Amino acid sequence: MHRTDRWTQRLSALDNAGLQRSVRTLQPIGPTTAVLDGREVIVACSNDYLGLAHHPDVRAACIGTGSTGSRLISGSRPVHAALEAAIEDWFGQPALLFGSGYHANLAVLSTLPVAGDVVASDALNHASLIDGLRLSKATRTIVAHAAPEAVGKADYLVLEGLYSMDGDVPPLAEYSTDPLLIVDEAHALGVLGPQGRGAAAAAGVRPDVTIATFGKAGGSAGAFVVGPPALKALLMSQGRSFIFTTAMPEPVAAMALAAIPILRAASDRRQRLADRVQRFRDGLSALGHRALGAHHIVPIVVGDQAMSLSAKLLEAGVFAPGIRPPTVAAGAERIRFTISSEHTEEQVDRILDALGPAC
Ligand SMILES: Cc1ncc(COP(=O)(O)O)c(C=O)c1O
Repeated sequence: MHRTDRWTQRLSALDNAGLQRSVRTLQPIGPTTAVLDGREVIVACSNDYLGLAHHPDVRAACIGTGSTGSRLISGSRPVHAALEAAIEDWFGQPALLFGSGYHANLAVLSTLPVAGDVVASDALNHASLIDGLRLSKATRTIVAHAAPEAVGKADYLVLEGLYSMDGDVPPLAEYSTDPLLIVDEAHALGVLGPQGRGAAAAAGVRPDVTIATFGKAGGSAGAFVVGPPALKALLMSQGRSFIFTTAMPEPVAAMALAAIPILRAASDRRQRLADRVQRFRDGLSALGHRALGAHHIVPIVVGDQAMSLSAKLLEAGVFAPGIRPPTVAAGAERIRFTISSEHTEEQVDRILDALGPAC
């Protein structure tokens, strides 16, 4: 047996279970359309909720060089400082940049809670939050999703503002204010709350730690953490995924900086998104589909039909892949549609037509 045959065997097992993954290459045509396998498709699974990846100001900002090192060595640039200042002006608290939301969540969860702390983590939290907690020496308790009454005594409580696979917003104002609250606003930034500050701001709640990303409604990549001044200083000194990694390249930071005024002011885009979401959700109900959540992430749970339904959608020119374990639980496979402010009404109707009535 060859030394690497064990990997091949594992791959076969994944393949047999229908769980082998592969990437699909999309060549964007515009904010909601792309060429996939030589055909034009409507993209119904992008996180570019407000179309900023194609916004002229964001695209024009994409200039600069690689950062050449960690922020703490050679990699800190004026554009990073300008971006942190713009976030501070937006959120009213010091901000620290990270290369991605994954890095930000690893740093927050592996640095803040320490041995002896109890961390309550929502059962549907994103893999990056789970992985951060796995690196922590604190005790984890997994609490029922979106159920404030299920949280016992804890030092920290970790939630998402808008859940990435279920599309729902937990009742943030109903949780106990005892634990320090950490909220990941990856999918709510720019879309919910005053000036797009997220689900917590929409609920009138100020978390102790807010994490948000520029890779979704921000239209580029990277992430930030905001909170009291000690948070920034502590993460800078002890957050391993801040310290031991190359800083955001200048063009990415510049795109994020250009996105902020649009995200803060995007009331026309937010309104158009709400209109399109309503049209899509109404259409789904009329077809007999039951969608989760109430916002721009619109999952329909179809179990083992997810991959065949996704193939049917693609046949009709709509790209929305099936979501399988381990991203979601076995039996809860789904199509996770995402709606953008830039989908036209006609495109929304075409997605509905491609889906057809529920069986
Ligand atoms: C809730 C949540 N947090 C964090 C991340 C990671 O963000 P990023 O893609 O910037 O690494 C994601 C995205 O994939 C997410 O859905």
